Amino acid sequence: MTNIAILGYGTVGSGVAEVIGTNAKLVEKRAGGLYVKYILDLREFPGDPYEDRVVHDFDVILADPEIKVICETMGGAGAAYKFSKAALEKGISVCTSNKELVELHGAELSRIAKEHNCSYLFEASVGGGIPLIRTIVEGLAAEKVERICGILNGTTNFILTKMAGEGAEFATVLAEAQEHGYAEKDPTADIEGHDAGRKIAILASLVTGKKISFNDVYTEGITKLTPVDFAYAKAIGMQIKLIALYDEQGDKHYAMVSPRLIGAESPISCVQGVFNGVMIHSNMLDDSMYYGRGAGRKATASAVVGDAMACAASIGETIENGLSEETGDLANIGTYAQRYFLRLKGSKSVRKAEVENVLGKGHIVFDIEKDEFGFLMDNAMEETQFMAKLEKLQGVIGYIRVL
Ligand code: HSE
Repeated sequence: MTNIAILGYGTVGSGVAEVIGTNAKLVEKRAGGLYVKYILDLREFPGDPYEDRVVHDFDVILADPEIKVICETMGGAGAAYKFSKAALEKGISVCTSNKELVELHGAELSRIAKEHNCSYLFEASVGGGIPLIRTIVEGLAAEKVERICGILNGTTNFILTKMAGEGAEFATVLAEAQEHGYAEKDPTADIEGHDAGRKIAILASLVTGKKISFNDVYTEGITKLTPVDFAYAKAIGMQIKLIALYDEQGDKHYAMVSPRLIGAESPISCVQGVFNGVMIHSNMLDDSMYYGRGAGRKATASAVVGDAMACAASIGETIENGLSEETGDLANIGTYAQRYFLRLKGSKSVRKAEVENVLGKGHIVFDIEKDEFGFLMDNAMEETQFMAKLEKLQGVIGYIRVL
C-alpha cells in the first residue's frame, strides 16, 4: 500500500479520492493499493468520508516519510509550483492535472524529479481522461509525430455545438453554458483559446522533445463567430470547431489555436458537446484518433489516479515523461499555408472574377444573407500572403481558416 496526499480538495481532488475508493480492488491488484493519508485544503469538509485526513499545512505532508506520491489538483502556478518542487526535492513523486503549471514549469519539475529518483506525471493536464500523454510518450514512441489537430477544450466545443445546432448567438449560448456550470464565471481562458493553447504547447513539447512555450502559440478565440458563419458552414457541409493544431510544414513547426472549418470527412467534425477529440498523424502509423471526456471530475481524476498508480509501482525510479528543458522554436504562422473561407459584401455574379483574380480559384456560397456571399478557396496560401491579398479586396466581412 502506498501512502499518498491530495493537494486541493476541489472538483478534481475529491474525484481522485472517489476513484481510489470506488476502484480500490483493482488499484490494489495493479499497483499494490493507494491510501489517501492527507488532503491539503484551506477548508474543512464536515461529513465528508475523508474529513479526518484534511490538513491545512503542507509541511505536515512533507515531513511524513510515509508519503511517496502527491496528487496536485490545486491549479495555478503559485503554491502548486512551490509544493510540487518541495515534494520532488524530497523524492516524492507528483501527479498533476494542472496544465498551467506543466506548461510553465513542467520541464524544470521533471528535471528535479530525475535528480531525486522520483516522477512528475501529468496525464490529466491535456484531454482530461483521454490517455494522450502516455500515448504520445510510450504508445507512439516509435513514431515521428508530424501533426496533431484536435478539439482540446470542452467548454468551447459545447458552445460551438449549440451555436451550430440552434443558430444561436455566441453570447446567448455562453450565458446558458455558465448557467449550467459548463463555462466558468470568467470564461476568458476557454473562449479566447488560452486553455487549448496551453494544452497544444504541452503536446508540441512532447512531440518535438523541446520546451514549447504557450506564449509562442498563436491563439484566437471563438467570440467573433456569428450565426451567419454557422449558416455558411452548414451550406457547405462543414463544421466550425476551435482547433488546436501542431503541424510540420517543411522543416518548420507550427502551433496555433483558432476556429476552423472542417469537412464532414474528418472524424474531428463529429466531436460534439463537451467532448474532446484529437487526431494524430505520425509517419508510420498514419492517422490515429483519440476521443473522450476532456474535462470533468471523474474523467480527470481517473487520469491522475492512473499516474499515481504508475508512480506507486516505480518508487525510487523516474518514469520518463517526455519533457525537456531545451528550448524549442515555433515558426511564425505567417508562413503557414492553409485554405480560407471568406465572407464578402456584394453580389457573387459581379465579384467572382475579381475575387478569383486575387485569391485563386474557389467555390462560391450564397443565399445565406442579403448582399453578401461566401468564398471557399480551392488552394492553400501562406497566412502573410493571404493577409496582403485581403487588403486588395473591398468589403471583406470576415474569414475563417480551413483545416
Ligand atoms: N475548461 C476546460 C475545458 C477544462 O473546457 O475543456 C479542462 O481543461
